[in-house]
Amino acid sequence: MDTDAFRRLWNELEPIGRTEAGGYLRFSWTESDLRLRLWFQAQARLRGLRCEEDRNGNLYAWWDAEKEQVVDPDRPRPLDQLTARKPRREGAVLTGSHFDSVPHGGAYDGPLGIVSAFLAVDRLRAEDAQPKRPIGIAAFTEEEGGRFGVPCLGSRLMTGVIDSDRARALTDPDGVTLAQAMRDAGADPATLGPDPERLERLAAFIELHIEQGRALDGSESPVAVATAIWPHGRWRVTFTGEADHAGTTRLPDRRDPMLTFAFAVLAARKEARLAGGVATVGRVEVEPNATNAIASTVTAWLDARAPDEAVLGEILSGFESKVTERAGRDGTGVAIAPESETPIVEFDASLRDRIAALLGGAPVLPTAAGHDAGVLSAHVPTAMLFVRNPTGVSHAPGESASDEDCAAGVEALAAVLRELAC
Ligand code: GLV
Ligand code: MN
Ligand code: MN
Repeated sequence: MDTDAFRRLWNELEPIGRTEAGGYLRFSWTESDLRLRLWFQAQARLRGLRCEEDRNGNLYAWWDAEKEQVVDPDRPRPLDQLTARKPRREGAVLTGSHFDSVPHGGAYDGPLGIVSAFLAVDRLRAEDAQPKRPIGIAAFTEEEGGRFGVPCLGSRLMTGVIDSDRARALTDPDGVTLAQAMRDAGADPATLGPDPERLERLAAFIELHIEQGRALDGSESPVAVATAIWPHGRWRVTFTGEADHAGTTRLPDRRDPMLTFAFAVLAARKEARLAGGVATVGRVEVEPNATNAIASTVTAWLDARAPDEAVLGEILSGFESKVTERAGRDGTGVAIAPESETPIVEFDASLRDRIAALLGGAPVLPTAAGHDAGVLSAHVPTAMLFVRNPTGVSHAPGESASDEDCAAGVEALAAVLRELAC
């Protein structure tokens, strides 16, 4: 496909939520998110696609199949009833990704999958393709957990992986609950919850995403197919001590949680290195956060990931025992609480192999990044396409892909939709 068509559509989105430093603030239910939602609705309208928002704030643009093939998504009926009345209808093929970003993140993580989905539909229509199944474009909400802490919130709610009361009570760094943020944005948090009928209507979910490492740098192919997602999780680690004067408190009298925290950052890295995974502390809050006072509390968030669950478990138990022992020596307290845990995802092997063959033997690779596709894969045959990232930078302003590779991604996605839905 024409790289100019990609660039034209991409340029429409690029300014939304971009900071002067070049990164993005596209937190869910904020003004930039609402502008992105409006853009999505406008793109759907422009193409005559039926737009809807589900009970969890996820958006869809539907290209319905020819009349006799359509399952009306607004009138869910049990499958047995459907089969009793008429021949079984074909489930929909859903594609898409998310708009939200990590704080000061890059442009491509998420939006590339949505822009590519609209362009893939354009591509199929240009060749007069006739879908036998509905084709949907999805924009999932709060995939990064950048505002409310739990990643893939829209797909977790939809699949019932997170309890809706817990979700409504999640708070952002300013103490605003998800429920309040939704109400402020004109959405109704009372509807949050599992959506099994919607899941039942899906035959497949395909998420196109920028690759988040350098796995395709130097590869012949600009597009790869995912095999698996590493198990991963986020843990809130609270270190408690005693605030006191930074000048007058004798060193032996201090109970300084900052010392235990500093040790914990290094311990996370060491345990991950020894076990063969990764662990990161990228967010920290300090009370009272004064230059001339010993901290009373340090709250840090540990992000840990590994190729399998045994290795992830090893990292966590090593971290916990080392940090607890250190807290004992520092006279501080430490509490570790999981905020989200995601088991290993192995994508549907036959779908993966079918797509890799369709794309001329595209490389297949695992990723250590989380995705809505991973959450949906427990319910729907799911696959992911990765578009080459020449620097490997992600979750940062330097995240990039060439227009040529993005156009190749659109071609690949169109080929997959043609294969699965037309
Ligand atoms: C989301 O992109 C994550 O991997 O944290
Ligand atoms: Mn991401
Ligand atoms: Mn993403």
